[in-house]
Amino acid sequence: MRPTPATPAPLTTHPGPPLAGRVRPPGDKSVTHRAILLGLIAEGETRVEGANPGADCAATLACAGALGAGVTRDGGAVVIRGTAGRLAEPAAVLDCGNSGTTLRLLAGVLAGRPVLAVLAGDASLNRRPVGRVVEPLRRMGAELYARDGDRLPPLVVRGRALAAIRYELPMASAQVASCVLLAGLAAAGETAVELPGPARDHTERMLPAFGVEVTVEPRAGAGPRLALRGPATPRATRLTVPGDFSAAAFFLAAAAARPGATVTAEGVSLNPTRTGLLDVLERMGARIERANQRLEAGEPVGDVTLTGPDRLEAFDVPAAWVPRLLDEVPAWVIAATAARGTSRLAGAAELRVKESDRLAALAANLAALGVRVEESPDSLAVTGGRVSGGTVAAGDDHRVAMAFAVLGTCAQAPVTVDDASSIPTSYPGFVAALAALGGRVEEGPGPGSAAGRRPAGNPAGTP
Ligand code: S3P
Repeated sequence: MRPTPATPAPLTTHPGPPLAGRVRPPGDKSVTHRAILLGLIAEGETRVEGANPGADCAATLACAGALGAGVTRDGGAVVIRGTAGRLAEPAAVLDCGNSGTTLRLLAGVLAGRPVLAVLAGDASLNRRPVGRVVEPLRRMGAELYARDGDRLPPLVVRGRALAAIRYELPMASAQVASCVLLAGLAAAGETAVELPGPARDHTERMLPAFGVEVTVEPRAGAGPRLALRGPATPRATRLTVPGDFSAAAFFLAAAAARPGATVTAEGVSLNPTRTGLLDVLERMGARIERANQRLEAGEPVGDVTLTGPDRLEAFDVPAAWVPRLLDEVPAWVIAATAARGTSRLAGAAELRVKESDRLAALAANLAALGVRVEESPDSLAVTGGRVSGGTVAAGDDHRVAMAFAVLGTCAQAPVTVDDASSIPTSYPGFVAALAALGGRVEEGPGPGSAAGRRPAGNPAGTP
C-alpha cells in the first residue's frame, strides 16, 4: 500500500517539444484486480502475466494473501494458489489502500463465505460511497455494516448463505455489477444484473477463462443483462493482462494536442468499453491507427498510434459516451485545452466520487493555469487556449497528477504538481515513460526552488 508521505513529492514539467515515440504501459489495473480475486477463490494455481505493478493491485494481492491465498512471484508472473472458495478469516482489517475496486469487488467475494472481515482504506477511499454495494448484497441476504448510515467505509462483512437475485443497477457501474456477480458465485441459482448503460465488461470476459459460464444479453437502449449460475468454484487458469489504456491515455491525449506529434501505445487494451477517449480524439481531428490487433485473456489488445492534427477542434462529448471514458476525463482535459473552441462533457456526476472529486479538481487546476473552464454538478466545459505555468494540486489523485504533469509539456511555462506521490497507485513507471517520450520532467518543485530536485525517471535520486 502507498504510505501517506510525510512530505509532499512535487513534480515539475517544462514546456518542450511534442511527445514522440513508443510507450508500453503497465498491465491493466481493472483486469489485474479481477484476475487476483478470481485466483483467490479458484481451485488450483492461477498464473497472471503482466499484472499491474501499482499500489492498488498490491493492496488486492495483500488482501488475497490475508484471506488464505498463496501469493508468489515467478519471473514476471504473479502466481496465486487459490482457496477453492474456502477463505481464511483475516486476523486484521483488510487494507484496500486507495482502491475502490478492491473494496467493492471484495465485498462481493466475501458476502457469501463464512468469515468476518472489515474492509477499509486510506482517507480518500474512506470518503467514497459503499451503499451501492451494501444494497444489492443485503438483498441477497448478506450481513453488512458501514459507517455513516451504511454509506462509507470501513465496511464490515459477516459472510453467510446468500440467495441468488435479479438486480437492476441504478448506475452503470462495473464495480457494482462485478460485486453482485462475484457474490452470485456463492449463491444457489441464477444471479442476474441489469445495467442501465454500458460499463467495462472485464468480469464477464474473464469468468469463462476460469470455467464459469456467463450469459451476456445486450439490450436495446440500455446496458447488458449479465447472469451466472451458482454455486460455482472458478478453476485456476493462466492469463496475460493487456496494457492499461487508462495509463496510455495521457500520452495519447498529449499527442493529439500538438500538431505532428506521434505517440504509439503498445500492447494496450482496445476493449471498446474503455476506449471512448479514442473516439472523442478522432472526432476532434486526431489521426488514430490500430495495429497488431489480437485477443488476450478474452480482451482485445493492440498497438495504437495517434498523430496530432494541424488543428484540433472542440467536441461535445455526449453523456452516453462518458462511461466509456470514465477514467480518461483527466486525460481528455489535455486535448480540450489545445482545441479550437469549447469542449463540453456532460452526465459526469460519477467523477465526483472517484479518488478525488475530479470535476472540482480539474476545474480548479485548469483555472490556476489560466484556462477558461466552467463546472456544473455533472459537467465540465473547457475552452482551448494558452496554458500558463503554475502550481496545481493533485488532491492525492493519481490521474489528476498525471494529467497535469503531461499538460506541462504543452504549457507556456513550467507546471508543478504539488504532490505526485499518488502516481504509483496505478503507474509506478510514469515519470520515466514521460521522459522517454521527450517530456522534460523533473522530480522537485521546479524553477526558483533548487532544493529537492531530482532528474526525471530516477526515483531514488541516485546517479
Ligand atoms: C472500475 C470501474 C469504474 C472505474 C474504476 C475501475 C472497475 O468505477 O472508474 O476506476 O475496475 O470495475 P465504477 O464502477 O464506480 O464506475
